[in-house]
Order: sequence, then C-alpha cells, then structure tokens
Amino acid sequence: MNKQFDIGVESLNGDTVAQPESRQAPLPLPLRGGLRNNSREQAADAGAGATGKSFFIETFGCQMNDHDSEKVAGVLQGRGYRAVGTPSQADLVLYNTCSIREKAAQKVFARLGDWKTLADGKIIGVLGCLAQQEGEEIFERAPWVSLVCGSASYRKLPDLIDQLESGGRRVTGLDLDTDETFETDITRRDRLLSAYITIIEGCDYSCAYCVVPHTRGPERSRPSEAVLAEARRLADVGYTEIQLLGQTVNSYRDPGPRGWRFVDLLRAVADVPGIRRVRFTTSHPNDFTREIVEAIETVPALCNHVHLPVQSGSSRVLQAMRRTYTREEYLEKIGWMREASRDISITSDIIIGFPGETAEDFEGSLSLLDAAQYDAIFSFKYSPRPNTSAKDMPDAIPEEEKSRRLAILNERQRQIQTARYEKLVGSTFEVHTDAHHPARGVWGGRTSCNRLVNFSTTRESLLGQYVQVKISRASANALFGEQVE
Ligand code: 5AD
Ligand code: SF4
Repeated sequence: MNKQFDIGVESLNGDTVAQPESRQAPLPLPLRGGLRNNSREQAADAGAGATGKSFFIETFGCQMNDHDSEKVAGVLQGRGYRAVGTPSQADLVLYNTCSIREKAAQKVFARLGDWKTLADGKIIGVLGCLAQQEGEEIFERAPWVSLVCGSASYRKLPDLIDQLESGGRRVTGLDLDTDETFETDITRRDRLLSAYITIIEGCDYSCAYCVVPHTRGPERSRPSEAVLAEARRLADVGYTEIQLLGQTVNSYRDPGPRGWRFVDLLRAVADVPGIRRVRFTTSHPNDFTREIVEAIETVPALCNHVHLPVQSGSSRVLQAMRRTYTREEYLEKIGWMREASRDISITSDIIIGFPGETAEDFEGSLSLLDAAQYDAIFSFKYSPRPNTSAKDMPDAIPEEEKSRRLAILNERQRQIQTARYEKLVGSTFEVHTDAHHPARGVWGGRTSCNRLVNFSTTRESLLGQYVQVKISRASANALFGEQVE
C-alpha cells in the first residue's frame, strides 16, 4: 500500500531525474516525455487523439493507485484520448485518490477546490479510495465534478465515459460487490525500468484502523495464466524487473485451474525468460510462510527484500487493531528471514497512537525495532477514518503525544539504520541503474534488497544496466560507491 523507501532523502528518483538517453537494447524507447508504451500500447498510441480529446490524470497514494492510473490511462488511450502534461490543457481531468489518512483526503478536496471557477467545459472525475468512501457526497462538495468511480468498479469506466461523452451530467461507479478484477487490453507504462503487475485486488482482513476493505472491496485474485502472460509481454518489450502488487499480495490464491498459492506464482514469474528481478508488496504477516523465505533463498531473481508491516510492537494493541498475530508470532517470522542463507532486508509500517496505546505499548514498538532490525520503516500517526471499527474507540491519544512518540520512534530507527548501513561499507552489490544526475556526476539505482545506491563510474549510458558497485560510504538511507568492472 505504500511506496517503498521513499524516505531516501538522497535518492535520485528515476521518475524525475533519469534522462532518457541512448541505452543498450533491449530497453524500449521512451515515448512522449518519458512515458513508455509496450507494443500493444503503441498500437493504441497510433490512434491516440482520434477523438481529438485529451486527458490528464494525477495520482495520490500507494503503488496500487499508481498502477491503476496506468491502466486507466491505457483505457483512455485505447479510446482515442491523448495524454497531456497539465490539467489546464485537458478535456478530461482525473484524480486517482487516496483516503488512508485524513490528510490524504484533505489534499484531494483542496485540489478539487482549484476547479471551482475554472471547470467550465471540462470533465472532472474522481477515482480511487476517496471516490468510494465519499460517493455522491463529492458532487455536493464539488458540484463541478461529473464522474465518481471507486477502484472496484473500474471495469465500468469505458461505459461511464460513454455516458459522459453522450451528454451525461453525473455518473458513478460505486459497486463493491464485483468479484472480478480490472483487466485492460492496454496499459500505459509510466515507469521506465520496473513494471507493476497487480495480482490481487481488495482486502478480506478487517484491521480496525483501515479504510481499505471499504474502499477497495473484497479480495479478488487474478488467474495465474493472466499474470504470467502479462509478465511475458513485459519481458518481451524489454522489462527486466517486475513488481507484483496487492494490498495483501501474499494472500494470493489462483482462481484458475492450477489453484496456485502466492509462492507458486512468485516462482513462476521469476522463471519468465528475461526477468532478472521480481519484487512484491505488501505482505501480510498472517499469510507470510516459510515457503516464501525458501523461495527467496533459492531463486536469485526473487529480490531479497520483504515489506512486512507490523503496525505495533504490543500484542495488546495488535489485538485491538485486529491484526490476527501477536508480537511473538511476528518476530518468529522475522527469525526465519534472519536465519536464511541469503541476506534479506525487511521493512515495515508502524502506526503510533492507536486509541488506548499506553506508554508501555509504545515501549513495545520501540523494542520491536531493536529486535526486527528493519532496513526502513514507514511510520504514521493514527488517523481515525470513516467506516472503520476504531473510529469511535475510547482513549484517543492527543495529537501532541502522537507527534512526540513518532519523533522518538523515528530517531530510534534512524540509529538502527545508520548502524546497519555502516556495516555494508566495503561490500559489493549488483545495482539496477535507474537514475542519472549529470550535474553531480552520479548514477543511482537499487540493490536487489532495495537499498538505494548512488555511485560514480567512468562508463556512460548505464540506465537500465545491472552493474557491480563497491560501497565506500553510507548514510541512514543510502549507500555510496564506485562501479567495479
Ligand atoms: N491511520 C494511520 N495510519 C494508517 N495506515 C492505514 N490506516 C491508517 C490510519 N487510519 C497505515 C498502515 C498501513 C499503511 C499503508 O498506512 O501502517 O500499512
Ligand atoms: Fe488495511 Fe489491514 Fe487490509 Fe492492510 S490488511 S489493507 S491494513 S485492512
């Protein structure tokens, strides 16, 4: 549900600084300002603009949303819409929204407010979690919006767009009861070097703080054959890295005849010729099995990084959160990874200030950081959300106290990370190069375990290449080194 490692302050983000430049085959060429289309998409691209209409889509929130937007863009391009770089140029302006915390929702309403006097003639649409959560209420708060559609109804998007094109004033897709997933003939690929594949949508857990089961609906897995076909297509057009996505990615259960579990699919995707790295996120501790660790140990193409959100280090709070595991059970799974023959980096999400969290509970989260030795955490102040069971729980923690605890937690993690990264100085890692900062003479990329590496080299045109980098220096979030031949 979250963007991995985006706390890397020194990160060279491929999306913003990577310069498309000549690179060795087989990477496909970036089209239109870095957007990249696969062969089926290029067919659509040729027809793009046939309607003379244009669209702009802005995405908030998690990787699932990023990828949903790629699919929505594909649907639109397939219908002859042309992508434009700013909302003011577009006939259709879409916001793919997030509502995981209140701040995220407020941000979207602020964005919608910008159109109050300017929307004339444009179609403004709200997609994603806030659309599902607020529904037609959005029309009340922003009457210039004419499309509201939650992610569980994206299959209906072409119909909804038809209705708008034939003069419909307000259309909605808000059903949650769909048992199908959002399949598209065309997906626009916005990421240059690593491609997303959604394998499971929705969530069947009911964590007390979380709005996702309400906004994304019940869990639906895609047939393994469809996932593998997509992986093969991506490899054919030059992708070497794939990221499997799902709210609870490891709860995957193949609805097709093979009946595969997550680990079977993981192994099969890693086996696709041309695929050198497979990542997956987000894993739920309850469905995290020893077999997954064994697969990482034995299949080099499976990245040695697991994002395993714990949420709290106190079993009492975990129970109140309905997380379905205790601190001890969670740490046992961490133990499997620490005993593995391959170094596995582990990252986590932690919520501070869940209702009733005592000083002792918080101490439990701090000591869990020591025990788990994460490579990074994403820490959040608890934010009450509509349609969740924790919303009206007693003993809310005051905001100042949440902020105080959050600062202590982050400082403890910073120390742990600094020490962990320091130990890596002198090691050599394979880095998938995804960024270049010419002014600083630095290249950037990720190790298999998702650590960010900035490095210097005497070579040119490294984007998309896998290179060996010897680490000479470390900070709390990144490694620095030189390429070795
Ligand atoms: N308040 C704060 N953090 C939350 N998360 C989910 N819901 C809430 C909430 N109501 C966090 C969890 C989850 C991450 C993506 O967002 O840690 O893993
Ligand atoms: Fe939300 Fe819990 Fe489902 Fe994750 S597992 S999406 S935190 S309800």
